[in-house]
Amino acid sequence: DWDMRGHVEEAVQAIRAQVGDEEVILGLSGGVDSSVAAALIHRAIGDQLTCVFVDHGLLRQNEGDMVMDMFVGQLHAKVIRVDAAEQFLGHLKGVSEPEQKRKIIGREFVEVFKAEAAKLTASGASKNGAKWLAQGTIYPDVIESGGAKSKKAVTIKSHHNVGGLPEQLGLKLLEPLRDLFKDEVRELGVALGLPHEMVYRHPFPGPGLGVRILGEVKKDYADLLRRADAIFIEELRATRDEATGKTWYELTSQAFAVFLPVKSVGVMGDGRTYDYVVALRAVQTSDFMTADWAELPYALLKKVSSRIINEVRGINRVTYDISSKPPATIEWE
Ligand code: XMP
Repeated sequence: DWDMRGHVEEAVQAIRAQVGDEEVILGLSGGVDSSVAAALIHRAIGDQLTCVFVDHGLLRQNEGDMVMDMFVGQLHAKVIRVDAAEQFLGHLKGVSEPEQKRKIIGREFVEVFKAEAAKLTASGASKNGAKWLAQGTIYPDVIESGGAKSKKAVTIKSHHNVGGLPEQLGLKLLEPLRDLFKDEVRELGVALGLPHEMVYRHPFPGPGLGVRILGEVKKDYADLLRRADAIFIEELRATRDEATGKTWYELTSQAFAVFLPVKSVGVMGDGRTYDYVVALRAVQTSDFMTADWAELPYALLKKVSSRIINEVRGINRVTYDISSKPPATIEWE
């Protein structure tokens, strides 16, 4: 709408005034906030922006290619894709404790990003060397980091934390979304021409499938999980609720599959199977602090279960998670 277009123009001018002819680096994750920040900054300064996209091998099906198609193929932005899957899996080998896994993934992420950013700030690699680090910080993040969250006595889950990076890299911080709420960020994304599907995507945690594969993370597990998860999401997007006319993807706040490294016996044709289990998780929430499990239609659950078991060799049982938050959390780790 007109208001948002006015906002885009204003934000573009502000970014140009702030950075002048200096270069900017941005860590692109594929999530809504970093994507909208990248699209906005690219609109303002074009090739003065270089995005660094760290693929930790724990992304969803086709996610890396989708990010590249969008930003390089369509927006013609400069994106460096770092394929660090082996490095991440190597460091996660033999580690099954959830907090330890989160810390390793977070630490490696910062390491890989810093190494790439250092190349771009060193003179030679780019014209003058980047002077700015852009982040997709939004207003709720600003409040959270100064407010209640840091005072919490118990850490339930340590989140990805990139605080302190600009100082470590000797870069100035550019945060063009820091006055906006999530809804406004989404509207801005649409106004910038990002696809509705990307802008209205469910949230995805920084550690990715690393916290959706229980216990030790293995490449084979990640491959099975990606396929099961893609089927679940495809069916949620394809199935409409008659009463509201909305898809079940729109009616849920977050939905995904979880890989359980547990084997159970099944029967396929006239043979016995002994394969892994997948749990489906779908929740409805307004703030992600509390959440109810979604009352998905049985017909939808039935279709997803039969497709996963028939199409993903290696999975022979599907369960549905009927735990609310609290006392459960949304993610399993
Ligand atoms: P929980 O599992 O704590 O999740 O109920 C609440 C919301 O936070 C997301 N989540 C994360 N997001 N980095 C993130 O960016 C993380 O480390 C992380 N852990 C959980 C989760 O997907 C849910 O939306």
